[in-house]
Amino acid sequence: MTTAALPFPANQPKGYEWFDAEAEFDERVHLQLEAPEHIRTLKEFGYSDEVIATKASPVAVSSPFRILSEEGAAVLLSVARRLRQHATSCERIDNLVRGGCYRSRFLRDLCTNASLTQLMCDIYQTDVAPHTMPLQLGHMNFSPNDLSKAVDKWHYDTLPLDIVMMVTDPNKIAGGRFEYFVGTKEEMAELAKQGKTPPVSRVVAPEFNGAGYAIALHGNMVVHRGGPLEKAAERISMVNGYVSTLPNVDDQQRHSQLRAVDDPEVLYTEWAKHAAWRGRERLNSLLQEMDFTSDRKQIASQLKEAIEDVNLAIAEISDDNVASIDHFEK
Ligand SMILES: [Fe+2]
Repeated sequence: MTTAALPFPANQPKGYEWFDAEAEFDERVHLQLEAPEHIRTLKEFGYSDEVIATKASPVAVSSPFRILSEEGAAVLLSVARRLRQHATSCERIDNLVRGGCYRSRFLRDLCTNASLTQLMCDIYQTDVAPHTMPLQLGHMNFSPNDLSKAVDKWHYDTLPLDIVMMVTDPNKIAGGRFEYFVGTKEEMAELAKQGKTPPVSRVVAPEFNGAGYAIALHGNMVVHRGGPLEKAAERISMVNGYVSTLPNVDDQQRHSQLRAVDDPEVLYTEWAKHAAWRGRERLNSLLQEMDFTSDRKQIASQLKEAIEDVNLAIAEISDDNVASIDHFEK
């Protein structure tokens, strides 16, 4: 069952205006949801049962599946082209747009659509909701200015779960393939220490049938990238984030890294609201589950755990040092 974690904010942040003359999102016209044929688990990637048990989902990645109809894909492409004027750059990605859901109602309504979210619950085999932070919805990657650069370097995500959708047809482009490493983050860190990228034998580049197809990804656990283009071309992909609605799994967020890329007018408020939501859900769970006991250490530790995301957010938001955005390439 899908549950909204937090409602989309009623007000826009400073500097964001809605696009005019935009098609209104209609799931009967714009969606063509199909289930993926294959699911790969974190276990297959080398993670232990103990680690998997604490994460949002046991799923690592799905095979490509259809999300948008032809008409839906055409509208999303036109939205992405309009958003491109707001592109920024960071150490990991040459051209990206964040906060598009505060500008395009079509993108907002697609990214928060209940039918799509229900499909994601089925794929992830757990209850998920569109990410609590709209900056983590409808993220767009565009072709790099420098063709020698990967569209998005080898990394794992700053959020637990996401879909990676092709906005342009990857079959009409040379290179720029989405790729993932069949292995753990720890293995990748070891490789990177030796100056290596993942061995070709353990890299998978899924075949997408066209624009509007996507894969489901446990982005925080699966190392992946958008490969370099072989020839200059328009290459756009869209990443939409999800969170587990279960209060006691790991948060799997690395919000502090977003300081290197996101608009401070938006980021800190969204970050604080996410932490408040996590704290609320965990305190609620504690209220329901706490038993009588004289074990005061256990009681104190349960309370401490329930608000650990709030305390972490306070510490990280107060920190004056801006983190860089991590990746595994030099
Ligand atoms: Fe990613």
